[in-house]
This record gives sequence, C-alpha cells and structure tokens, in this order.
Amino acid sequence: MKVTVVGAGYVGATTAQRIAERSIADVYLVDIVEGLAAGKALDMAQAAPLVGHSSTITGGTEYEPAEGSDVVVITAGIARKPGMSRDDLLATNGKIVTGIVEEITRVAPDAILIMVTNPLDVTTHIAMQVSGQPRERVMGMAGALDTARFRCFIGMELDCSAADVQAMVLGGHGDSMVPLASSATVGGVPITQLIQPERLQEIIQRTRDGGAEIVGLLKTASAFYAPSAGVTEMVASVVRDEGRVMPASVLLQGEYGIDDTFLGVPVKLGAGGVEQIIEVELSNDEMTALQASAEHVRETVAAWEQLSA
Ligand code: APR
Repeated sequence: MKVTVVGAGYVGATTAQRIAERSIADVYLVDIVEGLAAGKALDMAQAAPLVGHSSTITGGTEYEPAEGSDVVVITAGIARKPGMSRDDLLATNGKIVTGIVEEITRVAPDAILIMVTNPLDVTTHIAMQVSGQPRERVMGMAGALDTARFRCFIGMELDCSAADVQAMVLGGHGDSMVPLASSATVGGVPITQLIQPERLQEIIQRTRDGGAEIVGLLKTASAFYAPSAGVTEMVASVVRDEGRVMPASVLLQGEYGIDDTFLGVPVKLGAGGVEQIIEVELSNDEMTALQASAEHVRETVAAWEQLSA
C-alpha cells in the first residue's frame, strides 16, 4: 500500500515517520520547498535499518510519484502563531489546499483524502469540492486528536492510564468542539462518578484550548506529535481495513439533523474510507452545542466562498 503525505513540515514529516516506522505503508512525502521532503525522506529511510521496518520512504516536490496512492494525507499550509485562531488561517490555507487537491486529483484521482490542514472542517469541504470525490472518500482528522487530548487530561486528573479512558469529542475542530462528558469512562466507570462537575468543565475547556495551549508554549509552531498520531490511526484503519471507530470530520447529509456540513462525528473507517457514520444519542445540551458548532463551520465555509469568489 502507498500513502502520500503532502507537507513535510512538523505534522507531515512526523506523520510520514509514524506510517513508515509502523510498516503501515510505503510513503511519498511532498513539499513545495525544494529539498525539504527529499531530505527528510532520505533521513527517515536511513533510520529504517536501525528502527527495523521495511517501508520505503521517498520525497520530492513533484506530484507524479503520488500516482497509485491508496491514501493521501494533506498537512501543507501555515500553522497558527500565538493569539491566532484556526480560522485566521483560512485565506492562505484555503488557496494552498485547493492547488494541492487539484494536483492530487490529476495524478491519484481515486486516493482516499485525509485532511489535516486547518481550519480543518473547511479545508475538508474544499477538498471534497475540488476533488469531486464521494463523501466516503474525503475526511478530516480532528476528532481523533481532540479525543486523545480529552483522554490525556482525564488520565492526568485521575492519575491513571489514558489508554483506559474512553471518550469522544464531536463537532468542529475549534472553540466550538463538543467533548462528551456524559459517555466518557475510565475502565468502564463513568467519569461523572469520579470527577466533580466543576472540575470536569475545566478539563473540557482545557481540551477545547488544547491546541492553543501548545501554540502558546512553542510560540513558533503548533502541535504535531498528537496530530500526526491521530492521522496515523486513521490511515492505518483505512490501509489495513481495520474498521476502527473514531470521530472524523465528514460531510453530514441529514445525520444529527445537520445537512451539507462537514463536522466531527463518530465514523467507522475501513478500506472504503468512511464506511459508516454513527449517530450517538446526545443530551439536549450536547445536541445544541453540536448544532452551534455546525453553524460556525457553515459561517467559515461562507467566508471562504466569499474570499475565493
Ligand atoms: N504545497 C506543498 N507544501 C506546501 C505548500 C504547497 N502549496 N504550501 C506550504 N507547504 C508546506 C510548507 O513548505 C511546510 O513545509 O507545508 C509545510 C507546513 O509545515 P509547518 O509549517 O511545519 O506546519 P505544521 O505544523 O506541519 O502544520 C501544518 O497542519 O495541524 C495543521 O494547523 C496546522 O494548518 C497547519 C498544518
């Protein structure tokens, strides 16, 4: 199997490394900057005998080597600086993503597209529009990351392994995301029985601000270890037809009462891409928050349509 990763920056290069080192697929890394993808790919290839995997990894500025890719992950674009929201990236990243998806559609029209570039739900919308692919084959990585952050913070709070925490974060990848406290458990025990409501609200808010907290610390970059881990889980589930269930940004067409909007909801991922959209029963508050999140995504899409008109 072959995966192309577009963008050889922090997120893209780390994603390529994770995919190769876990022997999920062969990787082609692309970046607009001459030598960047080729250099990082060569460095990773040279690590292979030490790490002990047999995936091939190559890089370049051209799109032709992406031909025959089963999955294409797009991470290219600018990242946030302190004080910026993901939506502030819209004008620049919308244009970058449009150009890249045109190239990918030319050389690998059937590849399943997984978007990482922010603002996530809107770049995924753009990718579907430009590629003309059906909704099953175009998705965005956000829920896997936001959910991992939520699980991590719950694990820290309870001083237990985050691996035993099951939780879900729905909605858009931004301030309006919807961490579901009601269904979160640790080792099967509802966290609402273990964490006081006020403290839980603080953890939810820290999850919403999870990306900004890291931008604030790094100052010149945004998060990349957890984002690359999130997208690698999605790639693995598609490439290996694992049928993993996790939230991803997908085009809703009536699910959750929401139409024609990309939003993070639980999906089953397999060889066909999004094989099922799972509708969870939500409380009234959660449903209201999800609708508000959808409205925010629609507003950002409308802003993009004005910018690109
Ligand atoms: N084609 C290919 N690569 C491009 C293009 C383009 N048109 N434009 C920019 N790039 C490349 C840059 O050269 C850079 O190497 O995209 C890479 C982005 O890397 P970083 O600046 O390190 O950003 P990163 O932290 O990886 O974040 C990328 O993912 O999580 C999101 O919000 C984040 O939108 C951002 C994206």
